[in-house]
Amino acid sequence: MALRTIESLGALTGKTVLLRCDLNVPLQDGVITDDGRIRASVPTVTDLVGAGARVVIVSHLGRPEGAPDERYSLAPVAARLAELLGAPVAFATDTVGPDAEATVRDLPAGGVALLENLRFNPGETSKQDAERQEFAAKLAALGDAFVSDGFGVVHRKQASVYELATLLPSAAGTLIAAELDVLNRLTESPERPYTVVLGGSKVSDKLGVIGHLLPKVDSLLIGGGMLFTFLAANGHKVGASLLEADQIDTVKGYLVEAERLGVDIVLPTDVVVASKFGADAEHLVAPADGIEDTPFGAAGLGLDIGPATSARFADVIRSSKTVFWNGPMGVFELAPFAAGTEAVAAALTEIDGLGVVGGGDSAAAVRALKFDDSQFGHISTGGGASLEFLEGKKLPGLEVLGWQQ
Ligand code: 3PG
Ligand code: MG
Repeated sequence: MALRTIESLGALTGKTVLLRCDLNVPLQDGVITDDGRIRASVPTVTDLVGAGARVVIVSHLGRPEGAPDERYSLAPVAARLAELLGAPVAFATDTVGPDAEATVRDLPAGGVALLENLRFNPGETSKQDAERQEFAAKLAALGDAFVSDGFGVVHRKQASVYELATLLPSAAGTLIAAELDVLNRLTESPERPYTVVLGGSKVSDKLGVIGHLLPKVDSLLIGGGMLFTFLAANGHKVGASLLEADQIDTVKGYLVEAERLGVDIVLPTDVVVASKFGADAEHLVAPADGIEDTPFGAAGLGLDIGPATSARFADVIRSSKTVFWNGPMGVFELAPFAAGTEAVAAALTEIDGLGVVGGGDSAAAVRALKFDDSQFGHISTGGGASLEFLEGKKLPGLEVLGWQQ
């Protein structure tokens, strides 16, 4: 069965459509620092408005623990969405309470409302099916149809992602459809050479995807905090760098498997080693097998890939036809450790083929480093979701919309 599209819902004029978006954007003191997910949600909103629907948007933000928490209010998101739409967005201060009911009742055809954070309600993320079901039923009572478009959250079995889609006529929005088009090109018949670049801090988070991708890719480039577990697997000392000692054996297994499959796992040959964690740390470039031979000794902390590694990674990326990148190469938030991430991003903008930036952190990184979205083949709005898709996992929020991998 294929993904149900908005057309399958029939005429929407005058109907109230609940629209699940992932408007989980980074905020600093109430100010949105990357509005990529809001911008990515606009086309579906505009389509539904154009179809004459009353559009009632629901989303989560952050991980509040099932109760209202001002720090995770969607109010700033409503304001930004209104700017982007060039039209008012009515904001309800609750999700299934009196304000939401009144806001939905007063919404004109073609009007847009955003309800407060779904996760202020324990039913949204409850582990109990019955509790999620009960919350989803209250949400369903607000609308006539449901459009699911929060790609970043389709790997979660949560009330507004899964149960709600079973209670109303439901379909996927255009963002989910667009994300799947691209991710399918990565899983079905990627143009070769196909390179995957993995960074970020935790090896254990990415192990599933490494195992699943090894038989499919030509090269796997390893950066970020997890590179040190790979170096340790090759017998190198890593000083005070991030290390997941319990993953070393698994990583050794992957190195052997890659050799057998003829896949190139490209590991850093040099790293930027710092005296401590901080933008004002002393730092220098050391060979990957000499991290403890710097003046910092065993206290040396690897915080980025080195320049030789950056150049090598950039070469591999530029000569690939398909590249998927998830996870920063270093601590890009601190200027002295941003060069590796910047080099990977720059190379991705130069490829003659499909370059995909997967996920929250990597997307935020390319924008923080002042790249423009249009320079990349695709920037996915889902980090965990796109990785789980590439791992070949079943994603509840897609299956419930008719998707089968
Ligand atoms: C994300 O940012 O990863 C998505 O919005 C999902 O959020 P979650 O990881 O808190 O479920
Ligand atoms: Mg997440």
